[in-house]
Amino acid sequence: MNKDRFDQAFNNELGGMGVRIAQDPDEFWQVIKRLNILKPKRILEIGVQYGGTSLFWNLIAKELVIGVDCDLSGVVVDLTRGFHYEFISGDSTDINTITSVEKFAPYDFLWIDGGHTYEIAKSDWDNYSPMIRPGGLIGVHDVKAQGTGPEILIRELEEAGFNCELFIGHKGTALVHL
Ligand SMILES: C[S@@+](CC[C@H](N)C(=O)[O-])C[C@H]1O[C@@H](n2cnc3c(N)ncnc32)[C@H](O)[C@@H]1O
Repeated sequence: MNKDRFDQAFNNELGGMGVRIAQDPDEFWQVIKRLNILKPKRILEIGVQYGGTSLFWNLIAKELVIGVDCDLSGVVVDLTRGFHYEFISGDSTDINTITSVEKFAPYDFLWIDGGHTYEIAKSDWDNYSPMIRPGGLIGVHDVKAQGTGPEILIRELEEAGFNCELFIGHKGTALVHL
């Protein structure tokens, strides 16, 4: 996806559908640029909300997108056309959700943007990062604000020696290279 296509989707398509996306466009473009290189076949997203980010995964994934959320009532993007997009409704920490997600593994890219407490962010990392193939990527959103779950998680991963790339605009996005 080139920058013009990105801007069109971010500014026009989502706006036209009345979809709010919880992303800083400059940070998010950095993620898309890395995905242009990775060329993911399978993408897993924890935290769909209105479907704003899902629209992008749907444009990028060659094969399949799985979106997990405990409340899918706000999704207004039609993601059923063209690609294999599947929503899994449930709490990401629940064993039934994890088992459902695992059926489609391995994934090339995981986007963690669900519950923002430390317990949920850590649980999402622990349960879903093993489903990402070696050489894949994991994005963790909202890592800017000190003391929040995602921020603590990324600090721990950096201390543990993971290769974390940080983009700190309004929200803070981390990409962990496996
Ligand atoms: C910040 S929003 C996601 C934003 C979306 N990725 C975007 O940028 O457009 C977080 C979402 O995570 C969901 N969520 C929170 N805790 C969750 C949990 N334990 N399991 C599944 N979904 C959860 C919420 O319902 C909410 O829709």
